[in-house]
Amino acid sequence: MRSINIVNGKVWISSKFADAGISISNGMIQKIAKEYRLPDADVKFDARGKMVFPGFIDVHTHLRDAEYSYKEDFASGTSAAVAGGFTTVLDMPNTSPPITSVKALRNRIQTAKGRIYCDVGFYGTTNNPSIATELAEAGCIAFKAYLHKAIDSIIFDSEKIENLMVAAKKTRRLVCFHAEDPALINKNTRTAEEHLQAHPAKAEVSAIEQVIKIASKTQGKVHICHLSTREGLKLINEVRKLGTNISCEATPHHMLLNSAIIDELGGMAVVEPPLRPPADSAAILEGVSAGLIPIIATDHAPHALKEKGNQNPRPGFPQLETLAGLLFTLVNQERISVKRAIAAITENPASRFNLSRIGAMKEGFKANITILDPKKSWKIDSGTFYTKAKYSPFEGRSVRGKVFATIVGGELVYENGEIISKPKGDIVYGSEVRS
Ligand code: DOR
Ligand code: ZN
Ligand code: ZN
Repeated sequence: MRSINIVNGKVWISSKFADAGISISNGMIQKIAKEYRLPDADVKFDARGKMVFPGFIDVHTHLRDAEYSYKEDFASGTSAAVAGGFTTVLDMPNTSPPITSVKALRNRIQTAKGRIYCDVGFYGTTNNPSIATELAEAGCIAFKAYLHKAIDSIIFDSEKIENLMVAAKKTRRLVCFHAEDPALINKNTRTAEEHLQAHPAKAEVSAIEQVIKIASKTQGKVHICHLSTREGLKLINEVRKLGTNISCEATPHHMLLNSAIIDELGGMAVVEPPLRPPADSAAILEGVSAGLIPIIATDHAPHALKEKGNQNPRPGFPQLETLAGLLFTLVNQERISVKRAIAAITENPASRFNLSRIGAMKEGFKANITILDPKKSWKIDSGTFYTKAKYSPFEGRSVRGKVFATIVGGELVYENGEIISKPKGDIVYGSEVRS
């Protein structure tokens, strides 16, 4: 593997920019120092005018593959990831077949090997405590509980949630929730407008209340995915102050879009939880900028274009290639500080999901690095996407700040619009979760 020196960039070290050089060899950050003090390298990467960050981490990605390869596969999904500056993504388990057993997890890992351009860790989903223990031993990163609908006939009542939390605690894993109360949503919707009515805010609030109650009882460690309501955020903050071990994440769409766009975009804008009224999206954006929502995640959920029409649209859309531009636009507009924005896609996910040796610019850490041009203005154009899902609810939006290059394990994988290396990403295995 060629050694690389990154020079002339503004390097993000300990939450500040520094004029420093980085020397990379054997897949690791070997030295961070003034450029004249770096050892010689095979390649000199000139990052003048660019920002150099620890590689971005997405804790919520649907890479699909297997029977859903027509929507996305490991190669296309992780190509989209590196084009969006992500060097690690955590893959959701609602695949077909779903990741509900060690056998399924091992198969999925085998299928991913040699086909991924960035590092990938895997979730499992189960309501059975002994399977949870086995999944953890087999290396799943965390557990996902879909409260709103059964995945592979796995349903979660309060008792099942409690059992999973106890098993997760023993294996020191985080339990992540799609928080919508199935009793308060109507699943028989056909159009985009009906979908919105069918997923009211109170369904999210009720599910969060249920999770909080059980987490307080079990002292479990929990995470609320794609938070979308002001009320839900309020609840989470109240109990966190009282000692419940709870975190949450925001998606770009729940921060930046609201339900008004459904009239315009129809099925394209359908997602679960749905886009909410402006007061909710404003609260989510403020929550991120105030540091109350510590993690930003994409919920990259690709579907085939024909599945996104107005009749019975599948929920979700691609987001890996849009997040960095949208986020840096907020930074450029001074609506989020660069410190909060970067922490939300690097150090915060690394520490909450216990991902070792990534998420910070440190000697001895894995050389996962994202180089961004902060001044580059561009328009979101799904025609340029690497994901198979060539559409976006942000289509045509002008943004400022673009990923220029992505380095994974010391290898320059993406540069200036092109994927330039083979798929050499690593599987990320879960280890002990810090409490
Ligand atoms: O919008 C969504 N899409 N929400 C989910 O919970 C699932 C996801 C998907 O897998 O498509
Ligand atoms: Zn979800
Ligand atoms: Zn999801």
